[in-house]
Amino acid sequence: MSDERVIDEIAAARTAALAAIADAGSSGALAGMEPRFFGKTSDFGRIRSRLGQLDAELRKDAGRALHEARGEVESALEARRAELETAERRARLEAERLDLTEVVADRPLRGHYHLVSQAHRRLEDVFVGMGFTVAEGPEVETEWFNFKALNFADDHPARDMQDTIYVDLGEPGSTLLRTHTSPVQMRTMLAQDPPIYVVCPGRTFRRDTADATHMPVFHQIEGLVVDRGITFADLAGTLDEFVKAFFGAERTTRLRPSYFPFTEPSAEFDISDPTTRSGWLELGGCGMVHPNVLAAGGIDPEEWTGFAFGFGTDRMGKIFHGVDDLRALWTNDVRFLRQF
Ligand code: FA5
Repeated sequence: MSDERVIDEIAAARTAALAAIADAGSSGALAGMEPRFFGKTSDFGRIRSRLGQLDAELRKDAGRALHEARGEVESALEARRAELETAERRARLEAERLDLTEVVADRPLRGHYHLVSQAHRRLEDVFVGMGFTVAEGPEVETEWFNFKALNFADDHPARDMQDTIYVDLGEPGSTLLRTHTSPVQMRTMLAQDPPIYVVCPGRTFRRDTADATHMPVFHQIEGLVVDRGITFADLAGTLDEFVKAFFGAERTTRLRPSYFPFTEPSAEFDISDPTTRSGWLELGGCGMVHPNVLAAGGIDPEEWTGFAFGFGTDRMGKIFHGVDDLRALWTNDVRFLRQF
C-alpha cells in the first residue's frame, strides 16, 4: 500500500465504520463494535501506526484526516447509542405495562343501584315527566296517619297484630311501622293546598310470610292527585300512561273492583305476568279519594276531588326483569344482582 493512498484509506475506513454504526441493531451490538473502529488492529489503528513512516507533509495531512475521521465516527457512535438506548427503553416500558383494560372487563369496578332502587328512580322519572313532584314520609308512623285518618274503622282487620308491626313507643298501639305508603297522602294534604300531584316511593312493613310475591319488608309507590274536576277516567288514563312508559307497550293491564277504606270507588290494578299461574300479578290498589279522607286532610270535598294509587315496587322490579321469585331480590347474592 503506497503512502499516497493513505488519505483514501482513511476515507474508506471512515465510510465502513459509519455504515456499520448505522446498521447496528442494538446498543449491545454497538458496544461490541468499538474495538473494531479504534483498537490497535482496527483500520484506524493500523493507519495511525504507519503515520510515522510518512514524509512530514503527508504525515500532517494524514494526521488531520485521521483525527477528523475518528471524531466523526465517535460522534456517529454516540448518536446511534443514544438512539438505540431510547428505543430499547421504550420497548421495555411497553412490555412491562399492565394491561388494565382486561382487569376492567373481568371485574367491573363500578357498582350500580339495586333493582328496586332502579325501579324507584325510573318511576320518579316517569311521574316527574307527567308533572308530579316527589314526597317522602316517615317509616315509623302513628296509628292516626296509617289508619284512622285514612278512614279505617277501629275494627278493620289490617290493624290486627297479624298484619301490623307495632312499635313499643307511647300508648300501646299508637306507633307502628307503616303498612303502606298511604299515610303520605294525609301528610301531603295537611302540608299543602290543592292542586296536588305527588308520588311517594318508600319502604313498608307487614307481618307477611316471605314467598314468591310477598316479603315482610317491601316497597310501594304512592300517588295522590287532588284538583278540581278529577274523575276515575283521569286515574285510568294516568295508570295507562305510566304502565306504557315504565314497562313498554307489550304489557296489558286490568282494573278489578275492590275495596279500600280511603277510596271510593276502589280498584285493584293487575299487570300481565307470564311467570305467575294466572298470568296476572296484582300491582296495587287505587281509587277516588274518599270524601272523609279529603276532609281529614283539611280539603273541602265539595270543591275538590282526587284519586290515589299505591303499587308494590318490588313486584314491578320482578316483572320488569322477569325474576320469578321476589325473595331472590333480597338475598343480596351479588352474582344475581349484578345481572341487572
Ligand atoms: C295498599 O297498600 C293500599 N295502600 C294501596 C292503595 C293506595 C289503594 C291508594 C288505594 C289508593 P295493598 O295492601 O293491596 O294496598 O298493597 C298494595 C300493593 O303492595 C300490592 O298490590 C302489592 O303489589 C304490594 N304488596 C303488598 N304486600 C306485599 C308484600 N308483603 N310483599 C311485596 N309486595 C306487597
